[in-house]
Amino acid sequence: MARTFSFIKPDGVQRGLIGEVLRRFEQKGLTLVAADLRQIDRATAEAHYAEHAGKGFFDAIVTGLTSGPIFTMVLEGPEDVAKIVRTMMGATNPAESAPGTIRGDFGTEMQYNIIHGSDSPESAAREIALFFPELAK
Ligand code: CDP
Ligand code: MG
Repeated sequence: MARTFSFIKPDGVQRGLIGEVLRRFEQKGLTLVAADLRQIDRATAEAHYAEHAGKGFFDAIVTGLTSGPIFTMVLEGPEDVAKIVRTMMGATNPAESAPGTIRGDFGTEMQYNIIHGSDSPESAAREIALFFPELAK
């Protein structure tokens, strides 16, 4: 078993998609290990998106991520759980995310693409430590 990290972004929370997204993960067979609705500060958002620091869209995504509450989740499943969640999310660009995926079904704009998911087991460990330090090994 392995764990990954995900959150519903402020745009997804505002649109009332928490239940829909959670339903999909539970229906898939993933186990919710921890979750909460929280408002994060700018420093946490910058730390979360540190890999994108210096890019043209960095300020916009940090501002977006602090614009309202996010719904954070730690999900447990098989070894490749991070990949499973990424597949269910769909491509980053909503123009390329397939129907049936979360982004493909609910978004049209890159900056408002509903959900984040760790892109590897290493990212999952780093992000779980940032958001749920009590769960970090
Ligand atoms: O979220 P994901 O891992 O799929 O993509 P990313 O490359 O890590 O980028 C993080 C977030 O930045 C994306 O989910 C988009 O909301 C946003 N982004 C953007 O606004 N413009 C880009 N050219 C790339 C990403
Ligand atoms: Mg990413």
